[in-house]
Amino acid sequence: MALTIRNISDADWPATWRILHATFAAGDTYTFPRDSSEEEIRRAWIDVPRATYVACDENDEILGTYFVKPNQAGGGSHVCNCGYVVAAAAQGRGVAAAMCEHSQAEAVGMGFRAMQFNFVVSTNERAVALWQRLGFAIVGRLPGAFLHPARGYVDALVMFKALAT
Ligand SMILES: CC(C)(COP(=O)(O)OP(=O)(O)OC[C@H]1O[C@@H](n2cnc3c(N)ncnc32)[C@H](O)[C@@H]1OP(=O)(O)O)[C@@H](O)C(=O)NCCC(=O)NCCS
Repeated sequence: MALTIRNISDADWPATWRILHATFAAGDTYTFPRDSSEEEIRRAWIDVPRATYVACDENDEILGTYFVKPNQAGGGSHVCNCGYVVAAAAQGRGVAAAMCEHSQAEAVGMGFRAMQFNFVVSTNERAVALWQRLGFAIVGRLPGAFLHPARGYVDALVMFKALAT
C-alpha cells in the first residue's frame, strides 16, 4: 500500500472527524468524553497542536491521523506529545507505525528532543506493543487511572522516547 502522510487541510476534516468520532465514541483508548462534540475534537486535534497530519492511500482516502504538540510549557516544552488514530478498516496494515516514524522525524525538525505518551491505556495491547517496538519505554504505570467501558478500572501507562537530535 502506498501511503502518503501530509499536513491536514480544511477539506480533510469531515473524513478525519468520522474516524476520530468512531474512535472516541467507543471510549476505550482515549480520555476524550465519549459524547465530545465535533467542535471540541476539532479544537483538540487541530487548533491546539503544533501540527496535525493525515495518512492517505493511493486514492487520497484518509486512513489515519495524528498531531504533535509540546507536552508541557516552559521548561518541559522540548518534549512533545502525539496522538494517533487509524480508521478501523485500515488497522493492522502498518499505518500507525508509519505515522509514528513520521512524527518522530517531524518532531526532531521542530526542535523537540523527546516524545512522551501520557496515557496509553494498558488494555490497548496493540498500541503498547507497537510503541515498544518503535523504541518507547514504559516509564510509569498509573494504577486504575482509566475507566474502561467494558473492563472497568484499568492501568494507564506513561511511555517515553528520547529522539535522535
Ligand atoms: C493503536 C492503533 C493506532 C494502531 O494502528 P494500526 O495502523 O493498526 O497499527 P500498525 O498496523 O502500524 O501496527 C499494529 C501492530 O500491532 C500488532 N497487533 C495487532 N493486534 C494486536 C494485539 N491484539 N496485541 C498486540 N499486538 C497486536 C500488529 O501485529 C502490529 O505489529 P507489527 O508492526 O510488529 O506487525 C489503532 O489500532 C487505533 O487507531 N486504535 C484506536 C486509537 C488508539 O488506540 N490510538 C493509540 C492511543 S495510545
